[in-house]
Order: sequence, then structure tokens, then C-alpha cells
Amino acid sequence: MAARALLVDIHTHIYPPRYASYLRQRTSVPRILSRPTGKGSETEERLVILNDEPGGGRPVGPQYWDRGEKLRFMDKHGIDISVISTANPWLDPIPATEAVSLAEDMNTDLEEFCSGSPSLSSDESFKRVYGLGLLPLVSGVPIQSILDTISQVSTLPHLKGVIMGTRGLGKGLDDEALEPVWEAIAKAGLVIFLHPHYGVADGREWGERENGHVLPLALGFPMETTIAITRLILSGVYDRHPSLKILLAHSGGCLPQLSSRLSSCVTHDPIVAGRLKHDVRWYLGKLWFDAVAYGPEELEFVSAVIGRAERYPDTHADVSTQAALTADSAQWSKQEGARRMLWGTDHPFFPPLDGNEKWKSVVENLRAIDDVTSWTETERLAVRGGNAISLFNLET
Ligand code: URA
Ligand code: ZN
Repeated sequence: MAARALLVDIHTHIYPPRYASYLRQRTSVPRILSRPTGKGSETEERLVILNDEPGGGRPVGPQYWDRGEKLRFMDKHGIDISVISTANPWLDPIPATEAVSLAEDMNTDLEEFCSGSPSLSSDESFKRVYGLGLLPLVSGVPIQSILDTISQVSTLPHLKGVIMGTRGLGKGLDDEALEPVWEAIAKAGLVIFLHPHYGVADGREWGERENGHVLPLALGFPMETTIAITRLILSGVYDRHPSLKILLAHSGGCLPQLSSRLSSCVTHDPIVAGRLKHDVRWYLGKLWFDAVAYGPEELEFVSAVIGRAERYPDTHADVSTQAALTADSAQWSKQEGARRMLWGTDHPFFPPLDGNEKWKSVVENLRAIDDVTSWTETERLAVRGGNAISLFNLET
């Protein structure tokens, strides 16, 4: 019971030291470069992960790789446990010849990072840090090497899944070549944390005003996740691997808002109609969503959309059948939807610009959980930590 009151951050990143060293050696994006601050001979490191990144990249320092810094951040915000993942762009731009060994070495490093973290003093059965490993999903890497890395991750006791970008082997997540990968991940019971990196359409061609990183980050990132998971669902991966566990970053992007429109488009498209076993909306009840949405109305909406998923078991059901099912499945609700939502911070991104003690990005996402009007304390506890403990099977 004590475990259910824990605050668990499932969306929190690092650039492992080995990765940071690798980025320092690179001369093209992604890279870490050193530049003068303008104050005497002082220099600072900047992380550049996208071409044309505004401001010449972001300042980067120990908060991106140091375990002590992660634990200090956790203590400052009352976070009991973090499930950390390498930040984007992972191994996407790394040549196939280097990606496999780098993935394996980084997984071993991450396991050490987690196993060397303290236990929770209030409950020794938990570590304070668990991790999500990396797969060498790079064009040219043999599928067998990816399967071997899945086996490696599943033998590392503190790694509970993998973080994955949206491109697969370069052809998206609906690439047939990935079929054995889904099968192996599902069989190993690992969780996939699906996270964007590239963004889509920042609208630069529609206007000239400078908006920093706001459009790609706030709009492009979530749309990228939406497209990636939609392609995966439409390719029937969930019909073939129903036990696959996928957690979507940023509350699933636009998928909750657009799922009925998506369903209608599928129904009316001669190429896609009838391809899936279920209505597209049904698959939302198979996914998990982080609660990194920053507002109570958004969280409530996402929980409502997940909670209605069971109403749509049959892709061919007509409107009146669906209405009858609605009455039958009264147990499915926002409360049920909240069982699939997990709190996160996106640390070390979004640090306060004014150096405030507590990070607004953290406090806002916690307050949002408190302010969802239709959730009770049971749902709040679940989203803050209970769901993470069961999804990732965190107890040691
Ligand atoms: N910016 C990124 O590049 N990655 C994140 O995860 C969040 C913000
Ligand atoms: Zn993130």
C-alpha cells in the first residue's frame, strides 16, 4: 500500500557520459561543442541536436549526465523514483557500424547508473533510479543484432524497457522488417517508450517571425508521435502482438483529440477499411500515455478517450451497436482511462528561465493531476506513481 503513494517520474532523460563524449567528437549535428561565453577565457558547452537549432543549441552540463544532479532534482521536487531514458536523438544518426556496440555499452552503463543509485529509505525494495535501454535501430544494422540487444536489455535487472524514436530503421514503425522486433519486445515484456525527436512542419514557410523552439517542440513533437503510433496501429502490429506495451510521450500528442476523425477516415478509405480487427479508437485502450500535458482539462480529456476505448471493439459496428455497447460498458470511464496515465517531468529539459527553486514544468504537471475534477484520490495516486510501479514492475 505504501508503494502506491510514491511519486514516480517516468519521463526523465540523461545523455550518458559515453554518449556525451561521443557527441563531443562529432563535427556535425548531433554534437556538443564548446564556445566562448564572452567573459574572458570562459567557455561553455552547447548541445546541438537539430539542424538550424535556434540560439546555436542549448547549454548543457552535469544535469544531463550526472547521477548526483538527477537525485538532487528528484529530492527538490519530492520525486521518489525516476525511470530514466537517454534523450533524443539516441542512435538515429550513428553509423550502423558503430550503433550496435554503442547501444550495448550504453545499456550496460545505464544499468550501472541505476544499480548504483540509492534504495528508497522508506521502502528498501525500491531503487531510486530505473532505466529504459536503447536499441540500435539504424538502417543497415542486421535484425539479429537488434534482437540480441533486446535480449541484453531483458537480462539487465534495472532496465524495464526501451526508449524508441519514430523512424524505426529509417522507414517508420510500420516497416515489415520490424516484425521480429515487436515479437521479441512483446515476449520479453519490455515497455516501449515512444518519443519524438524530429518534429513535423514548424511552419517556417508560413511566416518569418522568430519563435525560438516553440513551434517544433510544442506542436511538431506531439504530431510526430501521433503519426508514428498511427502508422504502427494501421499496419496491424497490435492485432499481431496484442501484449505489446507502448507508452506514448506527451500524452499521446494529438492522437486522443483526433482518434474519432482517424476512425472515420479509416472507415471511408478503400485501402485501409477492414484492415484492422478493431475500430482505431479501441487501440487507445491498449496504450499507455504519459501525463506530461501541463493542464487538468487535457489530462481529463485523455483519460476520457482512453476510457471509452472498449466501446469500439468491432471495426464494422454501426452507430446503434456502438450506442448499445456504451450502456454495457459503463465500467469503462475516465477513472479506467486514468489507469493508463503516468506522471513525468521531461527533466532536464524545460529548466526555469528565472532560476526559481522549483521547476514550473514539474509543479504544473503535478498540479494538473490534483485539479482533474472527475478523478478521485485513487486516480491521482495511480497517475503519480501506482501505474508506473505496475507497468514497469519496479519492485526488486
Ligand atoms: N526537447 C528535446 O529535445 N527533447 C525532449 O525530450 C524535450 C525537449
Ligand atoms: Zn522527453
